[in-house]
Amino acid sequence: MKPRVYIARGLPEEVLQYLEEHCEVRQWQGTQAITNSQLATELGDSEGLLVTGTPVGDEVLAAGKELRVISNLSVGYNNLDIDALKRYGITASHTPYVLDDTVADLAFALILSAARRVPQMDKLVKEGRWRKGMDSVLFGVDVHHAKLGIIGMGRIGEAIARRAKLGFEMDVAYYNRSRKPDVEEQLGIQYNSFGELLQTSDFIVLMTPLTAQTRGLIGEAQFAMMKRSAIFINVSRGETVDEQALVRALESGQIYSAGLDVYEQEPVNPEHPLLKLDNVVTLPHLGSATANTRLQMAYVAARNLVHALTGEGETYIIPELQP
Ligand code: DGY
Repeated sequence: MKPRVYIARGLPEEVLQYLEEHCEVRQWQGTQAITNSQLATELGDSEGLLVTGTPVGDEVLAAGKELRVISNLSVGYNNLDIDALKRYGITASHTPYVLDDTVADLAFALILSAARRVPQMDKLVKEGRWRKGMDSVLFGVDVHHAKLGIIGMGRIGEAIARRAKLGFEMDVAYYNRSRKPDVEEQLGIQYNSFGELLQTSDFIVLMTPLTAQTRGLIGEAQFAMMKRSAIFINVSRGETVDEQALVRALESGQIYSAGLDVYEQEPVNPEHPLLKLDNVVTLPHLGSATANTRLQMAYVAARNLVHALTGEGETYIIPELQP
């Protein structure tokens, strides 16, 4: 008998076909992202669940009486309550590796956009405000040869460092929970203490997963340590930053500018003060969103689900739940 699975989101047709070959599939039909209460109602007797972003904790796990396996279609899994999963004896997987280069590309898109004020200049041209002899107030800052500080040196951090060294000849430093001498040697990058990195970097990229330790990692005190010329980039999770403190740092000129792909609340409220500032580049959480990478991620998530349910084939179990 095929295992019963619930797919709590849309999927590319070919990935859905793959799942239907191996499982009895039911799928969320709503047009909006499913909420955790809706998920709890929908789950029924499913043994497997494929989900993105929706919080999965006690409410969902208690409802899923037959649930054994969760496949999270993203590399980040802060939507999953790990302690609750352990209590219920449910395993969970995610989608590492396939998105590393795509997210690193996007980090650079933000670095370049914020440094060279690309969105503002695009608007200026389109609105017919381009006059000969560009006013120096519109000048940006150089990316090449500047110091890049990366907070969080996982695979994506490494991919960003590689681009910075090889493409832009930047001076690259990193801060990470554990030091990585092999990566330092291989990429020619240096380890900094958290404080030194904040004080001396021209660009600071936050690339750490959201955990109890990294929630609110960057706030008032950390912005105060940065150079007034610093450009702050967040491609991790919005909750790693105190957004009110970020707004104050940008408004007061405490830092030069910011590039954001993630927010405390997503989608971000259109009235959010961050969206009123010229010195912020904002993207709608699309770090991994290229057609190719999203297809690969969907395949990895589908295979994770099938493999974990059948006990055959590789599954990317999230680190905290690995045996
Ligand atoms: C992830 O997979 O966690 C990324 O945030 C997607 O862009």
